[in-house]
Amino acid sequence: MAIDQTLFREAMSTLAASVTIITTDGPGGRHGMTATAVCSVSDEPATVLACINRTSTMNARVKQNGVMCLNVLGGHHQDLSMLFANPRICVEDRFAKAEWDRSITGSPVLSNALIALDCEVSEITEVGTHSVFFGRLTDLAIATEHAPLLYFGRGFHTLKPQGTAA
Ligand SMILES: Cc1cc2nc3c(=O)[nH]c(=O)nc-3n(C[C@H](O)[C@H](O)[C@H](O)COP(=O)(O)O)c2cc1C
Repeated sequence: MAIDQTLFREAMSTLAASVTIITTDGPGGRHGMTATAVCSVSDEPATVLACINRTSTMNARVKQNGVMCLNVLGGHHQDLSMLFANPRICVEDRFAKAEWDRSITGSPVLSNALIALDCEVSEITEVGTHSVFFGRLTDLAIATEHAPLLYFGRGFHTLKPQGTAA
């Protein structure tokens, strides 16, 4: 039985997720976009995946460049996440609002990201409207002093330790 698309989207809106800015650079040019469809796949070899809509500019850029960096955001990055989710804002304006380093594969790395996972694309699988990009890690950085930015119920949240007032 086919699942109703609206019902599926409603269900997925209650799947709490970390918010990431995926970045890339190379022959296809620099780009970055906000994504929640990101997860760990394997620790040997260290591999992650990201699902990117085939109609997005980001999809073509990652295919051209063969590299991506997953920059996991903190609660202080909410404005930045909105910027990188707005197709009307050009790439220069998106990157202008934060400080970036460069990874060993050339992708932009957000200076104060919670985690930065630098990857080479090892495999791409096309599924419906999205491409699933598997990324083999080439480098990573961790900074755990910030609470994560979460997306749940079509809104942004941050994580509070249990036992504190809501
Ligand atoms: C919280 C949030 C999560 C998102 N997650 C994804 C995602 O996982 N994959 C995706 O393709 N687009 C996702 N988007 C939409 C893209 O960020 C948006 O389409 C963006 O404009 C794409 O940029 P581009 O067209 O310049 O490539 C998300 C948007 C928001 C606000």
